Amino acid sequence: MNVLVTGGAGYIGIHTCVALLEKGHTVIVADNFCNSTVDSVNKAMEITSKEIVFYHIDVTDEQALESIFSQHKIDGVIHFAGLKAVGESIMLPLTYYFNNIVSTMLLAKVCLKHQVNRFIFSSSATVYGEQKVPFIETLEPLPTTNPYGETKAMSERILTDIAKANPTFSVSLLRYFNPIGAHPSGLIGEAPNGIPNNLMPYITQVASGKREKLSVFGNDFFTVDGTGVRDYIHVMDLAEGHVAALDNLTAGVHIYNLGTGQGTSVLQLIQAFEEANRLEIPYEIVNRRPGDISSSYANVSKAKRELSWTAKHDITAMCRDAWRFENNREQIKIR
Ligand code: NAD
Ligand code: UFG
Repeated sequence: MNVLVTGGAGYIGIHTCVALLEKGHTVIVADNFCNSTVDSVNKAMEITSKEIVFYHIDVTDEQALESIFSQHKIDGVIHFAGLKAVGESIMLPLTYYFNNIVSTMLLAKVCLKHQVNRFIFSSSATVYGEQKVPFIETLEPLPTTNPYGETKAMSERILTDIAKANPTFSVSLLRYFNPIGAHPSGLIGEAPNGIPNNLMPYITQVASGKREKLSVFGNDFFTVDGTGVRDYIHVMDLAEGHVAALDNLTAGVHIYNLGTGQGTSVLQLIQAFEEANRLEIPYEIVNRRPGDISSSYANVSKAKRELSWTAKHDITAMCRDAWRFENNREQIKIR
């Protein structure tokens, strides 16, 4: 298939490009590089020895999208492009609503016009809010507490309504849990700008000496050791989940949790990282981060049943691969 991957230069997008290329798909990337660089695209080509056609465009630019669809016969789209920092979305709501919603609407519009019927959307476990774990797809999404989460919930609703009105349109709404890790080559991975918001990139930056110590946000949650529990999933497993969703897409709307089904606490992740990489991660317990929920992990039986997909990598592999990528980056900077 010819697959248009919006946001394909970003963390999850580039790993998915590698997985798609390795399965024989042709990949066209559209990215404005607001949170990535062309370097990841070059590295993905190096890993796979295959070509990626890429367009430096903004997905909120309808003419630019039109131009791609008129130059290529697109069979399906995977829509990763979006802004994703929860805290920033509270400060910049208009930026988030505009970027994340308008891009989804315009991409769907151009797909319908060009009879492209396969649409995969990057949603998030955040739409579940705080409910009984494990989260299952049949739970009603709860109103989220930040504009970022709202853009995911709204995009899901918009795509669902479009699919209802267009019976040949097929949509897969993929609710990711917590992607971490990197391609085993160490060439591509998560490289956030500035101070990382997320746990694993913070841990790897403490490991490299770039940050002094990790702040653990709260140890008074109702969990195994009081720290927050999440369902960490290796980014390559997540990437394979997209290929499976694309290969198995049928008309209508399909919602899938992409996680491992296993919850891991912050302290457990620190310990797993230390053991996997024989390193020490200094940390201190601080106050809870506003908006954090206690536990989030997935019921993954639907993806297993319908997509024949399950996550394969364990926490040790996630920790090793995350560190290999960060360590490589640091070595390159030193040289
Ligand atoms: P990322 O920031 O690394 O990648 C997003 C990419 O989209 C970047 O390359 C960025 O330059 C591009 N982009 C943003 N707005 C654009 C626009 N208007 N036009 C063109 N390109 C644009 O983020 P990621 O972690 O790879 O996330 C990918 C998707 O998955 C996002 O939609 C995100 O909300 C969603 N998601 C991520 C997580 C996570 O923990 N990483 C969890 C759940 C859902
Ligand atoms: N945490 C710390 N210290 C840090 C960073 C995080 O203790 O420096 C803790 C958090 O309190 C939480 C856990 O580590 O308990 C995971 O936090 P992350 O920020 O890594 O991930 P979140 O679960 O908060 O959110 C992430 C993405 C969201 C996405 C969600 C579900 O940031 O965009 O996963 O996919 F919606």
